[in-house]
Amino acid sequence: MNAGDELLDLLALRYSVGPKYLAPPAPSAAQWTRAAALASRAPDHGGLRPFRFVVVDDSQRDALAELFARGAQQRGQSTEEVKRARERAFNGPGLVALIARVRADLADVPPHEQWLCVGAALMNFMNALHLMGFGAKALSGASVSDPAVHQAFCGPGERLANWVIVGCPTRATHPRGLSIPAVEPDDLLLPWAG
Ligand SMILES: Cc1cc2nc3c(=O)[nH]c(=O)nc-3n(C[C@H](O)[C@H](O)[C@H](O)COP(=O)(O)O)c2cc1C
Repeated sequence: MNAGDELLDLLALRYSVGPKYLAPPAPSAAQWTRAAALASRAPDHGGLRPFRFVVVDDSQRDALAELFARGAQQRGQSTEEVKRARERAFNGPGLVALIARVRADLADVPPHEQWLCVGAALMNFMNALHLMGFGAKALSGASVSDPAVHQAFCGPGERLANWVIVGCPTRATHPRGLSIPAVEPDDLLLPWAG
């Protein structure tokens, strides 16, 4: 087996790991940088680089929790829900926001192509972390659309696509469960019927 085969086998074992099963440490600065470098290999029509990652430091979690809690309050959520919103800011030993900047004014590169690039960047980022031995999960929820969170993370023309929580998996990663039918490669790869 060559190194490529081994990598393919390893990549086939990437499953999302939820916050309950992620322990410290978070990726180091060098590891975040390496994952972002892999993300930059996403196919990118026009070289627009329609994404960036923003790392939330541990020292910033309290401020993020405050934003999450205020947002939940403003959405009229219960005390219990506001408490859970606050706690979400502490999910994952490592936390990054994926920020997308998708333009609607480009005839040659329509928004769906830019979103494909953002998604490919997310996948490369998560695969890089997986190959480094980390577990991770992409999460969104109400916070990604919250005006104050948007203001805190996004510049003009940007939106917060999702969070990625990252850490060391405390149990073997595995598919999410039997509720999701297994995908047969034949369902994904078909000869053209034309
Ligand atoms: C942009 C994005 C946002 C997501 N947001 C959530 C979320 O808020 N909650 C959740 O349970 N799963 C969310 N998911 C799905 C999980 O990250 C994960 O892909 C899913 O649980 C399937 O697990 P797998 O990656 O092991 O196949 C999101 C996925 C993406 C791509």
